[in-house]
Amino acid sequence: MKYSSIAGTGAYLPERVMANKDFEAMVDTSDEWIRERTGIKRRHIAAEDQTTSDMALEAALKALQMAGVSKEDIDLIIVATTTPDKVFPSTACIVQRRLGVSGFAAFDVHAACAGFIYALDVANRFIKTGGASCVLVIGAETYSRIINWKDRSTCVLFGDGAGAIVLKAADKPGVMSTHIHADGRHEDSLHVPAGISSGYDLVQREEAFIHMKGNEVFRAAVGVLDAIARETLSINGVQPGDIDWLIPHQANLRIISAAAKKLDLPMDRVVVTVDQHANTSSASIPLALDVAVRDGRVQRGDLLLFEAFGAGFTWGSALVRY
Ligand code: ACO
Repeated sequence: MKYSSIAGTGAYLPERVMANKDFEAMVDTSDEWIRERTGIKRRHIAAEDQTTSDMALEAALKALQMAGVSKEDIDLIIVATTTPDKVFPSTACIVQRRLGVSGFAAFDVHAACAGFIYALDVANRFIKTGGASCVLVIGAETYSRIINWKDRSTCVLFGDGAGAIVLKAADKPGVMSTHIHADGRHEDSLHVPAGISSGYDLVQREEAFIHMKGNEVFRAAVGVLDAIARETLSINGVQPGDIDWLIPHQANLRIISAAAKKLDLPMDRVVVTVDQHANTSSASIPLALDVAVRDGRVQRGDLLLFEAFGAGFTWGSALVRY
C-alpha cells in the first residue's frame, strides 16, 4: 500500500495590499465593522496584468524548491481554482507549459473554497493507486476579478493569492485520510450567476460577480465543519487533543473560532491568516500551511487537520501527518 506525504510547501501573494480603511471611500463600511464581523485587516490584490497562473507558478516553484524536487520529477499537476486564466486550456496546463515540462496529466479542480481539499483528495488517490508519484497540488485564485466592488456585503471579504504543495509517494502516511462532500441544493446561496453555457453577457455585469447569502453560508459552514472534523477524527481513532494544528479555510475568524471551540482546541493551535489574506478561496489552506511551515510553527511529525467549506455547497477535510 502506497501513501502520500507533503514534501514541500510554497505560496505567493501579490504585492499590492489593500487595508480595510481603503474600502471606506468606496462603500458604506468601516475598518471596525470588517474587523469585528470577519477578523480581516487587509488582503492582497493582483495587479491588472496578473493572472491565476502567474501566482500558481510562483507558489509551485517555491514548493518544489522546499521539497528538493526538480520539475522533471513531477508526474501530475492539479490546480484548484474557480478563477482560471481562460475558459480553456486549464490553468494546470498553463502552469505545466510555464514550468517547461510536458507529457503527464494536468487538470483543474473546481470546488470553490473547498477546492484545495478536493484536489488533495484526488492527488492522494492517484498516488495510492500508483497513477502518480510526485504531484503538484496548487490552490490559486484571483477573486478580485469577480468581486462587485460596489457591494459592501461581499467586496471586503476576499483577496488574491496562491499556495502549493508537492505531494510525494511515501512508505508511511502522510495523508491519513481525506473526506469530501457536496450538497448542490444550495446553489443560489453562494454563486456567480454568469457562466459560459448560460450566456456570459457582459452587459449584465452584476451577474458576473459573487452573490452570497452571508448568514445562510455562515450557519451551514459552522455546522458541517464540526461534523466533518468529527468524522475525520473518529475514522482515524484520533482525539481532538491529538491535533497539533487546525489549518482551516480562512473565510471568517468567527467561523474558525467556532470550529476550534467545538473541538475544544485553543486558538494558539489554530493557524489563522484571514486577518492578513482575507478569503482566498482554494488558495487559503495551502497559503496558511506555508506560512506556518516557514515560521516554524508546523514541524515535521505534527498532526494537521485541514477543513474547508465553500460554494456548492462543498466541504471537505484531511488529516495529515506532516
Ligand atoms: N460594512 C458595514 N456593514 C455591512 C457590511 C460591511 N462591509 N456588510 C454587511 N453589512 C451590514 C448588513 O447590510 C446588515 O445591515 P442591516 O442589519 O441594516 O441589514 C448588517 O451589516 C449585518 O449583516 P449580516 O449579513 O447579518 O452580517 P454577518 O454578521 O452575518 O456577517 C458575513 C456577514 C461576514 C458575510 C458573514 O455572514 C460570513 O462570513 N458568512 C460566511 C462567508 C463564507 O464562509 N463564505 C464561504 C466561502 S466563499 C466561497 O466558497 C466562494
